[in-house]
Amino acid sequence: GEAKTFRLAVIPGDGIGKEVVREGMRVLEHMAEESEGKFSFESDYFPWGCEYYLENGKMMDEDGLEQIRNHDAIYFGAVGFPGVPDHISLWGLRLAICQGFDQWANIRPVEFLPGVPRRLNHPDVDNLNWVLVRENSEGEYSGIGGRNFAGRGTGNEVAVQSALFTEKGCERIIRFAFDLARTRDRKKVTSVTKSNAQQYGMVLWDEVFARVSKDYPDVETDQRLVDAMAAEFVLHPEELEVVVASNLFADILSDLGSALAGSLGVAASANLNPERRTPSMFESVHGSAPDIAGKGVANPIGTIGSAALMLDHLGLAEEAARLNNAIAETTRQGILTRDLGGTYDTVEVTDAIIQNLAKVK
Ligand code: NAI
Ligand code: MG
Repeated sequence: GEAKTFRLAVIPGDGIGKEVVREGMRVLEHMAEESEGKFSFESDYFPWGCEYYLENGKMMDEDGLEQIRNHDAIYFGAVGFPGVPDHISLWGLRLAICQGFDQWANIRPVEFLPGVPRRLNHPDVDNLNWVLVRENSEGEYSGIGGRNFAGRGTGNEVAVQSALFTEKGCERIIRFAFDLARTRDRKKVTSVTKSNAQQYGMVLWDEVFARVSKDYPDVETDQRLVDAMAAEFVLHPEELEVVVASNLFADILSDLGSALAGSLGVAASANLNPERRTPSMFESVHGSAPDIAGKGVANPIGTIGSAALMLDHLGLAEEAARLNNAIAETTRQGILTRDLGGTYDTVEVTDAIIQNLAKVK
């Protein structure tokens, strides 16, 4: 076949984002090399992040989105570092890209890898896996609100933070979840809200869920309040297949899921614009982890697993599966970073994954 060249926009960002993206790119370059011309990457690196902010007063260039709009995908590390307020760094870069490119579906698989210490005492723990579908364009992260209303001062400040739920926004993410459920062995979608307390937006979500589910009679449905769902993750994870939730709730539940599966360091994610009008973005679930940054001990699996999601999105499903198998083979061999109780460092785990690519071929 004809060689395919994919243009990647690589944004390592801050802290361990830089360390793990370097390793992820090493894996991708290796796979391209050994594909014998089937595919290659042309990567443009962007220095955006907190250091960039401290030098330039902005997290990314004003025309940043235009600079990366025509790339095939965005490979992202993490943002956030002491010295720059977290809301500045998150809104200035990651949320600017997600919302600016309408990457409305955030896919976060919860994978229980072999050989990893379990935080969960469950009879079938080795066969657990589910996927969180996070609404990624509105909800609690719509940025609607304000502070410092006239006439108030220190001690009397007021802040309003509103959540935005639109019928279209709910419908597209719920439909996405049902379509994804149809690709899985057990076809089931669980919707998570808090509509007893949040009586406007989340009741709308529930209504849309009920309506859309009628178009998928072959898919089992379930609905939970988010607090009960947190318990369900621990007590009945075998009930979970596709879990669809709002921006904030899925954000929280995905950290819980990845911790149950071993560590925040193993969780991968894809921020998709399913219509493919704009590039999608692939990043680990974790942040910049300032507590371990610069030590070379960060777990690269979340970011390398995100590269697998990227390969899949680029039409390289076989390569994606092979990379996931190489990751699983590596953990099965006990080649683990410190967050998983191991003694290997970031580079050693990546080296092992690259070696195992040949083994699982
Ligand atoms: P975090 O995910 O960076 O770290 C939480 C804990 O998990 C830390 O103890 C860290 O050492 C550990 N951890 C995370 N990733 C790991 C890895 N790959 N290997 C080993 N251990 C790992 O979350 P935290 O501490 O709440 O936030 C730190 C900064 O990251 C903040 O500035 C925050 O705003 C930002 N952040 C950025 C995100 C993004 O860019 N997508 C997502 C979450 C947080
Ligand atoms: Mg998060």
